[in-house]
Amino acid sequence: MRVDVLTLFPEMFDGVFGTSILGKAQTKGLVSLNAVNFRNYATNKHNTVDDTPYGGGGGMVLKPDPIFAAVEDVLEKRNEETTTVPTKAPRIILMCPQGETFTQKKAEELVQEDHLIFICGHYEGYDERIREFLVTDELSIGDYVLTGGELPAMVAIDSVVRLIPGVLGNETSAVTDSFSTGLLEYPHYTRPPEFRGMKVPDVLLSGHHLNIDAWRREQSLIRTLERRPDMLEAAELTDKERIWLDK
Ligand code: ADE
Repeated sequence: MRVDVLTLFPEMFDGVFGTSILGKAQTKGLVSLNAVNFRNYATNKHNTVDDTPYGGGGGMVLKPDPIFAAVEDVLEKRNEETTTVPTKAPRIILMCPQGETFTQKKAEELVQEDHLIFICGHYEGYDERIREFLVTDELSIGDYVLTGGELPAMVAIDSVVRLIPGVLGNETSAVTDSFSTGLLEYPHYTRPPEFRGMKVPDVLLSGHHLNIDAWRREQSLIRTLERRPDMLEAAELTDKERIWLDK
């Protein structure tokens, strides 16, 4: 997979793209992560990328020309770098508070793609033609407003890249994630069996795998009921489990 991020602050991505699991994923050749400064595509003397809104009012609006030019250049570079002709068009994703709320389901959808292009703004608004004629998706990471789209793009990229097969050391850990199973995860424990009087539940030390699985499933159900009852509606539950939860 290839991921390009259009931003005025590419240095913000240095640490995230170069460190830990995302850094290793690149070293292993599983993903290529690139931050592109779209100010380099400004066409005026002062390299400005924003302007006052037509019709008046406060705030500045991100101009369409640098963004369109940056996307076109990214596509040209991708075509030069790939030996096979890319068959799939990229997803071009605008990070903004008005977008669709980003979820694990959306991450699972995006990981199927070959090429993602994220656009991060820092302004009051984007020229509507960017929305209408360039982007394929608008994403928000939640109902709060940040100073720009960079942190939201990092959140989305991290959650997509970790789903690429081979990125996580332990292949099962993405499968049993909270949300991908439809339930929150059960509690985990490791050594020592007793720490300052706090004990690991006996069942986990029993070596009895059927009992352990049953305990974990029950704990997942209890945790989801207590913390995120809204998730239970869509979760795959047996009739017996539904009756037990209703009690
Ligand atoms: N830009 C500013 N706030 C945002 C949010 N919550 N999600 C995505 N992009 C944003």
